[in-house]
Amino acid sequence: MKEVNVNINGADASTYPIFIEEKLIETADEYLKKYCNASKYLIITNEKINSLWGEKLKVQNSEKFIIPDGETYKNFETLISILDKASELKMDRKSAFIAFGGGVIGDITGFAASIYRRGVDFVQIPTTLLAQVDSSVGGKTAVNNSYGKNLIGSFYQPKIVLADTNTLATLDERQIKTGFAEVVKYSFIEKSCGKNFNLFNFLYDNISEIKKLNLNYINEVVEICCKLKASVVNKDERENGLRAILNLGHTYGHALEKISNYEIFTHGEAVAAGLQVCFDLSLALGLISDDYYDKAAELINLFEFNLPEHPYYTPEKIAEAMKFDKKVQNGKVRFVLPTGTGEVNIFDNIDKDLLFKILK
Ligand code: NAD
Ligand code: GLY
Repeated sequence: MKEVNVNINGADASTYPIFIEEKLIETADEYLKKYCNASKYLIITNEKINSLWGEKLKVQNSEKFIIPDGETYKNFETLISILDKASELKMDRKSAFIAFGGGVIGDITGFAASIYRRGVDFVQIPTTLLAQVDSSVGGKTAVNNSYGKNLIGSFYQPKIVLADTNTLATLDERQIKTGFAEVVKYSFIEKSCGKNFNLFNFLYDNISEIKKLNLNYINEVVEICCKLKASVVNKDERENGLRAILNLGHTYGHALEKISNYEIFTHGEAVAAGLQVCFDLSLALGLISDDYYDKAAELINLFEFNLPEHPYYTPEKIAEAMKFDKKVQNGKVRFVLPTGTGEVNIFDNIDKDLLFKILK
């Protein structure tokens, strides 16, 4: 059994474990009793996950609430439906919410838990690779509104995370790749996270087994990523500084998602494209050696993150979406950029002309 601990400091200090293994959902009750011990549970999931894995997740004293599938439904309407359901079921302050699904379910359930009766406990049971290596860890919760993604939310940590890697078997290829984009990202930031697991080489040396989702390797990959994220979140839960390094590839990635109205690219596909842009920028700025650039590009290529075709994918559109307009002081925008093997830094002064040159 792999276990990673998250230790949050400060006013809302908390400690919680992440367990990583196969068949964890079948034995979830054992863990819930030990780490949560709620009087009643509300499991929030969607029809797809419920039909694939719902029968295996057996939790005593629980009710299930099915929400619609998709990023479009990570909104106020769904949030209110969760809160209303909890009220209808007379869930009290000793009850807890369980997020059973990918990042969408995790983010909205965590936010609902943080405001229902001024906060009830919640548990993450992530079922996508992206959720297991990233979104279920670290306590960022959110919904979207008409102004953008994740604009309304809270920092609210779960009581426990149960990452059952068996559930990854039913993901489609695009969803697996979206998780791998975040995994590859971790391999480029690990020294800056304060660790050195040599994830880069682990991925490179075992690429074919990892791409096949061989759990002997995937369990280790998930464990390393959770350790890296925990290490960052332990030092900077509220993203006052260090936590921003987790956004390597995201400045460009978010812009790509935005111009396509979050409908064409998965988050990971956009981030994967963003990783390559960051390496191009770093090389142009002389921050990394040719050798590291080539090795990084090769690793990105090995995962075959093919971007779907999109007609609005032009440098001008991307730059505009990055807010390269009059709102940005002196035409400069913030990027996390590689500065050496496993190391990154935050740069607030990336020149517009250089970026345009790279994007073209
Ligand atoms: P998702 O939750 O939409 O899941 C992707 C698809 O896979 C959905 O259709 C879902 O129903 C399906 N699915 C889930 N588990 C499955 C399984 N085991 N088998 C088959 N299908 C399954 O997407 P995601 O990539 O998991 O998460 C993206 C969301 O996570 C975004 O909203 C993003 O903003 C958020 N996010 C949050 C954080 C954070 O720190 N809180 C970090 C990164 C991303
Ligand atoms: N996914 C970025 C973060 O958790 O901060």
